[in-house]
Amino acid sequence: MKKLIAFAAVCIIAAFYFSSCNNNADQPAATNSADSLKKVVERGDYLANHVAVCIDCHSKRDMTKFSLPVVPGTEGGGAGFPFSETEGVPGMVWAPNITPTALKDWTDDEIIRAMTQGINKKGDTLFPLMPYHHYSKMAKDDIKAIVAYIRTLKPIDSLTPPRKLNIPASMFGPLPAATLESNIRPDPSDKVKYGEYMTVFAACSECHTPMGPQGPDFSKVFAGGFVFNTPLFKVAVANITPDSATGIGSWTEEMFLQKFHTNSSDANVNRDPGKENSIMPWAMYGKMKEEDLRAIYAYLRTVKPINNKVEKYPK
Ligand code: HEC
Ligand code: HEC
Repeated sequence: MKKLIAFAAVCIIAAFYFSSCNNNADQPAATNSADSLKKVVERGDYLANHVAVCIDCHSKRDMTKFSLPVVPGTEGGGAGFPFSETEGVPGMVWAPNITPTALKDWTDDEIIRAMTQGINKKGDTLFPLMPYHHYSKMAKDDIKAIVAYIRTLKPIDSLTPPRKLNIPASMFGPLPAATLESNIRPDPSDKVKYGEYMTVFAACSECHTPMGPQGPDFSKVFAGGFVFNTPLFKVAVANITPDSATGIGSWTEEMFLQKFHTNSSDANVNRDPGKENSIMPWAMYGKMKEEDLRAIYAYLRTVKPINNKVEKYPK
């Protein structure tokens, strides 16, 4: 009896992530569902930590280490990096607590709405530093996997300071209801298309697009140049278009992979880089699956090459 109830519970949870949950007498269905749910959470863990890097923004960061890695034990607890004018924000915003303490009263659909439309439970429009414009393009099962994963985060009891914006966030959103059902994750065998999907998911363009007078200049997407002038260091975003002179046109796929591996190695992350630090969350992206990084490289080869010389550590 107990077993049946346990199965029913797993089945209800799993049914949300899979269209069907059938108790076939030939197969140990309960185990299968639990296994499937475990796989879903693992996928969510991977995406939230190494691709969409939700945990990067929504946790406390160690400012004394290379690429400002997450302080262990603060995952999802929010109120980490204060995003301000330095990051191009007209005011101050903090990424809030997204652990179960904060989201316990949110339904899965409400979390999905925040992630893909930019509307929180209270009905506020989220400032688009939260990359909902990107997540609205992702496949439904990937979005649901992230929700399943953040439900498993260690609950942290912390409050986030209220945001202060000099212009209304409604200038940027919210987005209309996302049609997640029609979003497709391309097959990895279609390396460029799949790489584009992963690049959008990882929101690489958020930092790698230069700022024009009216905000991000998407005609120069991936050309870099924006300078993050933090109190501790100053770093300019690299040009990652295939321009050979000023971008990464001369990089081989192996060089690209190597950069992610070297920059995210424990030895490299755990050193004090002084003023030669980076805002790019290498520690997280660097643990992306090799296949996914290779696909991102393949996609970046196909974007418009733009000649834009960037000095990494401007005076
Ligand atoms: C680049 C930083 C960044 C990343 C990456 C990011 N977020 Fe956010 N997120 C924010 C900020 C900042 C806010 C608050 C915006 C505001 O207050 O207007 C926010 C708000 C939210 C909210 C609304 C919370 C509330 O109480 O209103 C949820 C839920 C959320 N994010 C989940 C996620 C998930 C899940 C991911 C990964 C798929 C993610 N975020 C990735 C920065 C980020
Ligand atoms: C939070 C901002 C941010 C995000 C998001 C970001 N980058 Fe970066 N990126 C930077 C900055 C700043 C630099 C220059 C400093 C450095 O090398 O770390 C950089 C450097 C790089 C370099 C090194 C180029 C060179 O010439 O040395 C590569 C490659 C790169 N980024 C690729 C990516 C990819 C791919 C993504 C998405 C998976 C991404 N970046 C997301 C900020 C970001």
